[in-house]
This record gives sequence, structure tokens and C-alpha cells, in this order.
Amino acid sequence: MQPIIEAHRGYSGRYPENTLLAFRKAIEAGATSIELDVHVSSDSELIVIHDATVDRTSNGQGAVAELSTAQIAKLDAGSWKNPAFAGEKIPTLEETLALTLESNVCFNVEVKKFAGGQRDAKQLTALLQRYAPRGSSHIVSSFDLDALLQVRQADATIPLALLGSQGDHLLAEAVKHHFPWIHCSYRGISRDLLYAAHQQAIKVMIWTFDQPAGRQHYTRLGIDKICTNYIAELIQA
Ligand code: G3P
Ligand code: CA
Repeated sequence: MQPIIEAHRGYSGRYPENTLLAFRKAIEAGATSIELDVHVSSDSELIVIHDATVDRTSNGQGAVAELSTAQIAKLDAGSWKNPAFAGEKIPTLEETLALTLESNVCFNVEVKKFAGGQRDAKQLTALLQRYAPRGSSHIVSSFDLDALLQVRQADATIPLALLGSQGDHLLAEAVKHHFPWIHCSYRGISRDLLYAAHQQAIKVMIWTFDQPAGRQHYTRLGIDKICTNYIAELIQA
């Protein structure tokens, strides 16, 4: 079985991370699954951005939680990567999930912070259902166990994945909470861990792995999904 190859923040090795351009380029490269990160704006919109502030990946400054959707929409999220990408925006989650209407791609939505707790979880699950891919489902992941449990409370049908660096810990929590996936740093997994996970019918994703030459190793090992910044290169490997 070949692992799913997932585009980490879109095709972020070559395009500005977590932008519609990076997501479209990942889909063009053949990605069937795309990882992205979510924070919440001051007016409670789910915003696709990795950091808690806009400083690193835009021409703006400040915490996402203290900026409105309109303020965030004005920022340039492309030039920091390369001036050729000037004009790329920080998208909302809804704008991003709308890509499922043209491509049937699945998203792995990593919740970074739910400022509004259950309200944010309900908003997230409503969007995931409205823009559900045909024949499969988006997935929600987080380092934050509480956020995952809030998502489950909002909608028990969304597949959940606990994120972390220590495979044994992740597996124990996944068994305890009946999560179908663990998303583990590639440094934190072993053959034994993978076997133990599969014995429990739990799938294993590794992040963030950018070496095309290493794909075969993880395929042989039986990894279920590889998350990479270089989606085209890993797909071609
Ligand atoms: O999905 C795994 C990975 O995205 C977690 O780390 O910092 O890239 O969000 P980070
Ligand atoms: Ca992430």
C-alpha cells in the first residue's frame, strides 16, 4: 500500500505557505490531501495561518486574535516568500475549503488555538460539512487534546488526529479517546509503534518529511500518510 502524500501548508516548499496559491499548486501537483493551520480572528472568523501573529508570513503586524477579518484580508502574504508572489492573501478557512468544489481535495485542518472554545468548534464542523469532499471526509488535528474533544462534541463524525512528537504517548491517548489517526513527527515513530497502532486500527501520519529518497523506506514500513512541504517531489518519488 502506498501512503497518502499530504501537502504541508500547501506546496509550501515553493509557494507561500497557507495561501490559496500554495493550495492550488499542491492540487495541480496531484495532492489528494492538504494540511493547513487555523487561528481565530478578533471577530471570530477561522483564519488559515500557522503562527499566532501575522508578522512572519505577511507585511502586517499583530496577533491574529486581535485583528479583524477585514484587517487580515488587506495583508500581503506572498512577498515575504518571494516578490513574485506579491498580492497573495491570508485566506479564511471558508475560502480555502471552497476549493473542494473544484477539486474534491481533503483537508487536514490543524487547530492551533480555539479562542472561543465550543463556539469555534461548532463553526469549524459546520464548514467541514458544508464543503465536505465527495466519498471521504476532512480531518481535524491538533496538539491540543481539549480542542479535539471540543470538535467531537460539536460533531462526532469528523475524524480526529492527535499531533505530537512522541509516538508512544500519542498512541496511548488515541486508544483512550478512540481517535482514528495519530500524526507524529517522523523522528518519533518506530516499526514497533506502527505495528502497535495498526493492531488497534489506528493510522499513522508522519510530519514533516521532505526527502524524496526516503519515501520508499516509509512505504515499506507501512506508514499511512506522509506530510511534506515538497508535495510534487514526494509524489514523483
Ligand atoms: O501536521 C503536522 C505539522 O503541521 C505540525 O507542526 O508547526 O508545522 O504546524 P507545524
Ligand atoms: Ca500544522
